Amino acid sequence: MCEAMRHYWLLIGACGWVLLIVMFLSKFISFRAVDDYGERAGSPSGTVPGTKVVVKSIRMSSPEKQAPKSSDQPTAVPTLADWQSVAQKRIELLSTVCKNSSLRNLTHVSISKFVLDRIFVCDKHKILFCQTPKVGNTQWKKVLIVLNGAFQTVEEIPENLVHDHEKNGLPRLSSLTHQEINHRLNTYFKFLIVRDPFERLISAFKDKFVKNPRFEPWYKHDIAPAIIWKYRKSHRNNDLDASGLHFEDFVRYLGDVEGHRRMDRQFGEHIIHWVTYTELCAPCTINYSVVGHHETLEKDAPYILKAAGIDALVTYPAIPPGITRYNRTKVEHYFSGISKRDVRRLYARYQGDFHLFGYPSPDFLLN
Ligand SMILES: *[C@@H]1O[C@H](CO)[C@@H](O)[C@H](O)[C@H]1NC(C)=O
Ligand SMILES: *[C@@H]1O[C@H](CO)[C@@H](O)[C@H](O)[C@H]1NC(C)=O
Ligand SMILES: *[C@@H]1O[C@H](CO)[C@@H](O)[C@H](O)[C@H]1NC(C)=O
Ligand SMILES: *[C@@H]1O[C@H](CO)[C@@H](O)[C@H](O)[C@H]1NC(C)=O
Repeated sequence: MCEAMRHYWLLIGACGWVLLIVMFLSKFISFRAVDDYGERAGSPSGTVPGTKVVVKSIRMSSPEKQAPKSSDQPTAVPTLADWQSVAQKRIELLSTVCKNSSLRNLTHVSISKFVLDRIFVCDKHKILFCQTPKVGNTQWKKVLIVLNGAFQTVEEIPENLVHDHEKNGLPRLSSLTHQEINHRLNTYFKFLIVRDPFERLISAFKDKFVKNPRFEPWYKHDIAPAIIWKYRKSHRNNDLDASGLHFEDFVRYLGDVEGHRRMDRQFGEHIIHWVTYTELCAPCTINYSVVGHHETLEKDAPYILKAAGIDALVTYPAIPPGITRYNRTKVEHYFSGISKRDVRRLYARYQGDFHLFGYPSPDFLLN
């Protein structure tokens, strides 16, 4: 009786153990399946929507490791080839518009120290990158820092070092000699990323004057009051501190051809967030290899990596659909209270950028 009872309990115990082991194994197997999927879809850990860059491998990756990846995505290959003709047409348009003498004032600038300061050098892979804020440039800079070899992975780069060009191993073109600069301009792969000029201004306005990051106090404390003082139509009491910069003030400042120059000298480098792409990157003077568009970053990012010959080393993860797309509703909303005269003045200054990069003129705001 007692013996039978003991066998009974032993059996239950054994069954329990078997059950535990089966549960453990099945969990282990399903975790592995998730991992495989996650890896193929691009690791989601620490992904910033739309801009996060994953570095595949720092050392030269072996060809047999790359082979399965490309056969996994048979559709990606023809898409990239098609994109070459899009990229080619953009460069042709750029060159045509640069030759248009009636736009010359708006499209031609000399290669000044200001322009050379915008261009970052990756000597190891012979790449020049002209930085145009608010189109995921920090991520591109991180990629180039890693490719230059100062850091092993993007994650290792401390946030405060990304923009410290003394220490991050990503020199500016302006730090080189005249001869070194010319050599690189003539032989390296050169690219920049642009977006719709008016949407870009809205983005800069929101980012610098509405959200106003705590670590960049000068926008709210120095630049905004100076613009309000000069361009706000009515100065009510306490207007300066209470309500902050309005988009209307900003538009009037940007569209004032004579006035903005004087103020820009006082604002220093901060103007990179709103001066024209022409002033930032001299696209009619420097023979750029590729112009990426923020609106089609899903296609442009892999194309640029391939054209620059670094697609085996780095990759851009999937960009959430719609996040970079042009939003006309937003543009209409921001410009709804702005007078036609002010919009036309603004367009007069930025039309070079519209024409050079193939953005349709915003007739719905001008007429
Ligand atoms: C040059 O630009 C002006 C202004 O956009 C335009 O009206 C004109 O047709 C252009 N000329 C050529 C040859 O493309
Ligand atoms: C272009 O620049 C020249 C001098 O550099 C000036 O005389 C002319 O008025 C400018 N044209 C426009 C349309 O701004
Ligand atoms: C610009 O570069 C292309 C090749 O990328 C070349 O065919 C063209 O001649 C260059 N143009 C100038 C003005 O250097
Ligand atoms: C476009 O902008 C408007 C206004 O800012 C916003 O409500 C809307 O969600 C945006 N649309 C898309 C597709 O992002």
